Amino acid sequence: MKLKIALLPGDGIGPEIVGEAVKVLDSVAAKYGHQFEYSKALVGACAIDATGDPYPAETHAVCEASDVVLFGAIGDPKYDNNPAAKVRPEQGLLRMRKSLGLFANLRPLAVFDSLAGRSPLKTEIVKGADFICVRELTGGMYFGRPQGRSEDGNTAYDTCVYTREEIERILHLAFGLARGRRKKLTLVDKANVIATSRLWRQIGGELAPQYPDVELEYMFVDNAAMQIIQRPTHFDVIVTENLFGDILTDEASVISGSLGMLPSASVGAKVALFEPIHGSYPQAAGKNIANPMATILSAAMLLEHVGLQQEGKAVRDAVNQAIEAGVVTEDLAAAGAKACSTTEVGDFVAGHIA
Ligand code: IPM
Ligand code: MN
Repeated sequence: MKLKIALLPGDGIGPEIVGEAVKVLDSVAAKYGHQFEYSKALVGACAIDATGDPYPAETHAVCEASDVVLFGAIGDPKYDNNPAAKVRPEQGLLRMRKSLGLFANLRPLAVFDSLAGRSPLKTEIVKGADFICVRELTGGMYFGRPQGRSEDGNTAYDTCVYTREEIERILHLAFGLARGRRKKLTLVDKANVIATSRLWRQIGGELAPQYPDVELEYMFVDNAAMQIIQRPTHFDVIVTENLFGDILTDEASVISGSLGMLPSASVGAKVALFEPIHGSYPQAAGKNIANPMATILSAAMLLEHVGLQQEGKAVRDAVNQAIEAGVVTEDLAAAGAKACSTTEVGDFVAGHIA
């Protein structure tokens, strides 16, 4: 297969972890006879430094001209405590999502048996947890307008907006995913308080008869935050709006033992984007210590997305092997064991595939 892959390493550890994922993709290409063609582009703080724009038109053009995008992370501490900064790296990510039509963010949450003991939660609670969060990605409070400040600067406001069309398309996607899994869909909202949530719940009920084989349950987001920690095995597919999904998936990531293990896919229009759910981890940048597995597993999702199931599985198996063999970075290393570097983990996974 010929595949055009846009590479957006971004900031912090982004270039290192994307580099390891490319190593793994190259190994897949060699082994299975594919041709992967890469085009690099800037996004985030590095794009601001180079061009003044966190998502330059050139980067958008590279993404549009590709079949898929592999993205690292964005963010730089110099912006975090500077509320006055007019241009922020995060704006690049949001504009990229919106302009590529990536309305659904899929965040799978599975516990690797051999890592269950690394979770801060009790092993008997997390063992066997396997669910996927479908986060709406281009609506809600992130994009609703008006957003801003009053003239005197003492009042701030955001707007949460959802249209029927936006809710229907993400719910159809979530029902469809549930149908291919254990057939259980949890719609997370705050319908007891928020108007947009009431529309989500209403439309959920309207669509449910089209998916009679899927069991639909509703859950308030505050309760869901608790249930995810107390009974993670309860869930199969969770679907929710943008902001709730952002928060719940960071929370859910602790179940697996390391944020460094979790991949994600953003889909919608033509081009799909794959990225680890963690951030740019600036303290680790350039030190060759960051865990590349989430990005490598994002590459596995990328392969499966374009129909290369066997290749995706080969990547997953190789990651499992690395974990079993103790070839892991410091976030996962057993107490007293020597941690491997970012490149050592990538070399092992790529080597195992070859
Ligand atoms: C994520 C991140 C982003 C978000 C930030 C960096 C804008 O936290 O992908 O979850 O809030 O969506
Ligand atoms: Mn987030």
